[in-house]
Amino acid sequence: MALSIEPTDATLGAIVTGIELSALDDATWREIETAFHEHALLIFPGQSLAPHTQVIFATRFGEIEQLYAGYDSVALSNKDQKGGMAEEGSYQMEILRGNEGWHTDSSYMPLAAKASLLSARVVPSKGGETEWADARAAYDGLGETAQFHVADLMAHHSYFHSQAKIGHQVEVGAGYGFYEGAPPLRPLIKVHPVTGRKALYIGRHAYGIPGLAEEESERLLHDLLTFTCQPPRTYTHAWQAGDVAVWDNRSVLHRARPFDHREAREMLHTRIKGDPTTESEHAPLSSDLRTRG
Ligand code: OGA
Ligand code: MN
Repeated sequence: MALSIEPTDATLGAIVTGIELSALDDATWREIETAFHEHALLIFPGQSLAPHTQVIFATRFGEIEQLYAGYDSVALSNKDQKGGMAEEGSYQMEILRGNEGWHTDSSYMPLAAKASLLSARVVPSKGGETEWADARAAYDGLGETAQFHVADLMAHHSYFHSQAKIGHQVEVGAGYGFYEGAPPLRPLIKVHPVTGRKALYIGRHAYGIPGLAEEESERLLHDLLTFTCQPPRTYTHAWQAGDVAVWDNRSVLHRARPFDHREAREMLHTRIKGDPTTESEHAPLSSDLRTRG
């Protein structure tokens, strides 16, 4: 079984086969890590990882970000605790509905995420794909004038804000990300700590660019998002149970696609913490990094 890393036709993503993630040696890991930095999204079809093995693989990327204290992974599922279908409009379903908007994980936290791993356990007969957009290629494609325009702008990131926008009012303490305190302010341009490539750091959690009027800020963020999430910068994965995906939250945006909620969709998500020097809310502006050479 030879390792194969096949780039997609889009500007991001590669399909990785000829590998068993449950028995990953260090040399192969280095190839995976290099591919992760280059493609920002890796899909590993047919791995069927046990939950604890998923966590072991995730730990290769860094420290786990626990979304529930004591749990290294969380289920993204439309089933309730008792095995029935979760009720439409419930907190659980509203969070899933929120995931259908383009976003990057934990940008609303004081420390944003480095990467996320998602595996499919049960998939609906149609729909329920995951889609990613290449925010690096989007930055590159903006052109110099627009790049200059966004160079020193920042935005707030809030999960309250993004859920409220889809009509879901959330209380403090309702779940992960809904904490008391000021939402982080982050540069619109993210400089990748390893590759140095710049990416647009936007998505549904971003709002309120200081220095711009509210509508102007909304319009700019909307226009940038629309530009980002266009072919050839998007890739859609139609899941089979057992598939695993890992993506770089510093480089790409993602969203879930709708499906018929009478069918089950059960995914297991593991999130990897960002580096406090580059993913904390006080990370330097891209222009500061630039002058440091
Ligand atoms: C996530 C996420 C999308 C999906 O796992 O962070 O947004 O397709 N998932 O379930
Ligand atoms: Mn997500």
